[in-house]
Amino acid sequence: MEKLTSVQLREKWLNFFKERGHAVIPSSSLIPENDPTVLFTTAGMHPLVPYLLGAKHPAGKRLTDVQICVRTGDIDEVGDATHCTFFEMLGNWSLGDFFKKEMIKWSYEFLTEVLKIDVNKLAVSVFEGDEDCPRDEESAALWKECGIPGDRIFYLPKKNNWWGPAGITGPCGPDTEMFIDTGRPKCGEHCSPACDCGKYIEIWNDVFMQYNKQADGSYVPLEQKNVDTGMGLERTLCILNGYRSVYETDLFAPVVNRICELTGAVYGEDEQTTKAIRIVADHIRTATFIIGDVRGVTPSNVDQGYVLRRLIRRAVRFGRVLGLGDGVLSELAGMYVDIYKGEYGYLADNAEKIRSEINKEEEKFRATLQQGLKEFEKVITHIPTRTVSGKTAFRLYDTFGFPLEMTVELAKEKGFEVDEAGYAAAFEEHQKRSQAGAEQKFKGGLADNTEATARLHTATHLMHAALGKVLGGEVRQRGSNITAERLRFDFGFDRPMTPEEIKETEKLVNDAISAALPVVCEEKTVAEAKAEGAIGIFDSKYGEKVKVYSMGDFSKEICGGPHAANTSELGRFRIVKEQSSSAGVRRIKAVLE
Ligand code: ALA
Repeated sequence: MEKLTSVQLREKWLNFFKERGHAVIPSSSLIPENDPTVLFTTAGMHPLVPYLLGAKHPAGKRLTDVQICVRTGDIDEVGDATHCTFFEMLGNWSLGDFFKKEMIKWSYEFLTEVLKIDVNKLAVSVFEGDEDCPRDEESAALWKECGIPGDRIFYLPKKNNWWGPAGITGPCGPDTEMFIDTGRPKCGEHCSPACDCGKYIEIWNDVFMQYNKQADGSYVPLEQKNVDTGMGLERTLCILNGYRSVYETDLFAPVVNRICELTGAVYGEDEQTTKAIRIVADHIRTATFIIGDVRGVTPSNVDQGYVLRRLIRRAVRFGRVLGLGDGVLSELAGMYVDIYKGEYGYLADNAEKIRSEINKEEEKFRATLQQGLKEFEKVITHIPTRTVSGKTAFRLYDTFGFPLEMTVELAKEKGFEVDEAGYAAAFEEHQKRSQAGAEQKFKGGLADNTEATARLHTATHLMHAALGKVLGGEVRQRGSNITAERLRFDFGFDRPMTPEEIKETEKLVNDAISAALPVVCEEKTVAEAKAEGAIGIFDSKYGEKVKVYSMGDFSKEICGGPHAANTSELGRFRIVKEQSSSAGVRRIKAVLE
C-alpha cells in the first residue's frame, strides 16, 4: 500500500475543514506570547484561549490549523515508539458556532472516508458525568447514529475524558476521544481505552469547551460553547502507515538513516541503541524548531533557553554513546530544515543561526562532558549511601555544565538518587553570592541588561497593580515582553485609556517607587497565593509552590522573577504608548528614566 506522507496528511486535514467553512490560520510561535507563565505552546488551543473565552477572532468562528507544540513533561519517555518533545497538532475549532452534532459527524467522516480507517477498528470514549457536568449521552447517541456499536463506546470519568484548562484556570470541558483498536485481546474484564495495555491507541480528541475553570476549582459555564480538537500528526501517520514508531515516518526517517550511516549503528537492533538514536533525532528536531522559531531563543540557563540547553546536551550525551562525531548534530538540524522548510519557511531563513547555535552549545559541552563523566564515576564509587549530594550535583552543573536532570538520569542508570532539594539549596546559595556581586557592580553604575530588565519587570508588577486600581475591576494580563530598554504589557480592556487614566497610572507607580518598598519574595501554594489576593496567571500544577512577589500593600503577584530588591531602584516611570493590540486587548509600552 502506498504510504501517506506528512504533507498529504496536513493537506487532507486542512482541506476537509476548509470545505466545511473553516478559515485556515497559521501556526503560532512555539513561544507563547500571551502567557508568561508557560514556556512553550503545548496544544493548538493555547494561542486561542482569548477567543475561546469570548473575544472575536478576526478570521471568524470556524478555524483550523496545524500548530507546532513542545511538551517536555514526558522527556523521560522519549525513545519509545511515540513520545516526542516536539509535535504538530492538527486542530479545528468552533468559537461558539457548531457543537457536538456537527463535530462528531465530521470526525467520523474524516476517519472513515478520508483516512479510510475501517469502522470496526474504531472505539470512542465519552464523559461519564459527575457533579460538575452531566453524563454525555448526547455524544454517545451521535456516535451510535454514525455506526459505532454500543460496546465500543466507553463512558469514562474526568480523569480520562475531560480536557483543560491548559493551566490552572481557563476554558475546558468534557471530551470524546477516538481510538484505533489494534485487535489485541482485551487485557481483562475491564479493559478499555483508559488502561494502557496497548489495545487502544488514541488518535483524536474532540473537546467540548463549555466551562471556564476558576482558581477555586469551580466550573462556570461559558456563554459561548466551543469545540476544540486535536490530532497528533506524527502518531496518526505512524498508525495509518502501519509503522512501529514515529521515527519511520518521513519526518524522521532521513535523520535516523543518517545517524546510522555515520555511526554504523543499526536502528531496531537492540533497545539501547534504538533508544539513543531516537533521543538524538527527537531532541535535535525540537532544538531546530526552538532556535529557528519566529520568536526563537538560544541556549541559556533560564526558561526556554534552559530547556533548549538540556535538549542539546542530552543529544550530545546520547550521540556520544552512539559514537557520533563532533559537529554532526548541526548537520542533522540542517536536514530537519530541509524536511520542514516547505511548511515552516522561517526555518530556512534561520538555518545559519540554528546550525551555529547548536554547534556552539555542542562545543561548549563537549569540552567538559568527558571530564564531568569521569568526575561523576569517581563520585559514585566513593559515596557510602546511594544518594548523590546536592553539593556534588551543583558542582557537576557549575563546573561541567551538567543540567541537574542529566545528573539525575546518570545516577538513575546506576541505581542512585540525587538530593534535589540539596541541589536547589546549593544553587540558591550560589545565586545569592553572584547577586551580591551584581549589586556591587550596580552601585558602581554598571547596570547590565539583567539588572535593567529586572527593574522593568518590577515596574511591570507595579503598573499591573496600578491599572487594576485605575481602570477598576480585574485588568487581566494577556502578555508581557521586556527588553533592557522598555517594558511591553498587554491586557484585556475594551477601549483606549484616557490621558487622565494614563497620568493616574504613572502617578501611582511613581508614588510606589518613591515609597521605597522592599520587594519580598515568598514561596506559596497556588491556593495560598490566591487566598491572599495575589494576581497573575495561575498556570501551574495544583499543589506546586509558586513564587509570590509583594511590594508593600501595593502589589502582590505570582511570578518567576527576577526583580529589583527595592522599588527605589527603579527611577522614574513613564508610559510612552498606549494602543490597541488586538480586539479587546490594549498594549502599553513604558520606560524607566
Ligand atoms: N486541546 C486538546 C488536546 O490537546 C484537543 O488534546
